[in-house]
Amino acid sequence: MARISARIAAITESATLAVDAKAKALKAAGRPVIGFGAGEPDFPTPSYVVDAAIAAASQVANHRYTPTPGLPELREAIVAKTKRDSGYEITADQVLVTNGGKQSVYQSFAAILDPGDEVLLPAPYWTSYPECIKLAGGNPVEVFADEKQDYLVTVAQLEAALTERTKVLLFCSPSNPTGAVYTPEQVLEIAKWADSKNLWIITDEIYEHLLFDGAMAPSIPVIYPPIADRTIILNGVAKTYAMTGWRVGWMIGPKDVIKAATNHQSHLSSNVANISQRAALAAVAGTLDVVNEMLAAFDRRRKLIVAALNDIPGIYCPMPKGAFYVYPSVKGVLGKEIDGNRPTTSSELAALILEKVEVAVVPGEAFGPSGYLRLSYATSDQDIVEGIARIKDLLSKAK
Ligand SMILES: Cc1ncc(COP(=O)(O)O)c(C=O)c1O
Repeated sequence: MARISARIAAITESATLAVDAKAKALKAAGRPVIGFGAGEPDFPTPSYVVDAAIAAASQVANHRYTPTPGLPELREAIVAKTKRDSGYEITADQVLVTNGGKQSVYQSFAAILDPGDEVLLPAPYWTSYPECIKLAGGNPVEVFADEKQDYLVTVAQLEAALTERTKVLLFCSPSNPTGAVYTPEQVLEIAKWADSKNLWIITDEIYEHLLFDGAMAPSIPVIYPPIADRTIILNGVAKTYAMTGWRVGWMIGPKDVIKAATNHQSHLSSNVANISQRAALAAVAGTLDVVNEMLAAFDRRRKLIVAALNDIPGIYCPMPKGAFYVYPSVKGVLGKEIDGNRPTTSSELAALILEKVEVAVVPGEAFGPSGYLRLSYATSDQDIVEGIARIKDLLSKAK
């Protein structure tokens, strides 16, 4: 009998967290590592949010268990925020507060998948999706869109991957890892198609406010209401309010799904820490000034990093329209000799870049096919200039 269950043994470590941990460990050991691995804003959480948490810590009510689906005030604030930001009208019993958006991802799949159900997974995809799908008993079916199509899948591609076992389409725009954003017309076309096939849509809106160049990210049940009863929205405070460490996310869905997921959570983690929920309440009920300030910096860094990457022979980096990631193709470099090595996969190239010039990037294998790197530009302008210059120095040795 195996010591570790087949189900859990099949799960791979989160590559993004692994790269980040390695970079932080090297830094702690005194190495001048520059990290592009972490998917988190480099800004502090706003002080009014921190103050709300400090005040909450001294209130005895917050020292106790509270309702599994979340503090009533926070669920109501999420209802109001959802109407304000996407125009979607819901009630509080359609909201479940979870430990970060990540727990919502898992609980959503767990709530609606039966063994063998297939999930259409546009690739490159966020690294946790396939693992959450598998843990929930489903099968991820990758639908790959490369850089020539700006990493955006078409309905024709989805249609080609459809089988009688397909139950769900995963949708994420703006996308982690590519930063790609679907146009409203594309979102509508995909939603209509999914509805015509009786599919569910799990739509990840965690980067909803991180948009550039006038791009828009309409919410699926708003742009196409007929599919609302088969749509689950994932969201959270992590990216919008620089609150990755506070671990507050939520899922929004039909009442029966939210009830089922709440039952699941009641045996898994119960309520999210009340101090964090109070902090999230201050964030969600407040303005969007924080994200607007971050956006100005992210926009500047986005242009800086894309220009610097495209200046490296063999690299092609499309200009992303959302989130804080770039996803260059490195296929023009693979197979060449670089400083006595010949990396043939993006994984080998990422390892070489870390070893030779101490820059941490995440290889494409964490998000789908080899041939790409993901770099988060939620870091200082100075690190962007220095880090990409180091990569350029190394790759200009490619023969
Ligand atoms: C696409 C996407 N969804 C969800 C999450 C979950 O974020 P958190 O669990 O920190 O709220 C992340 C985090 O990186 C993400 O990139």
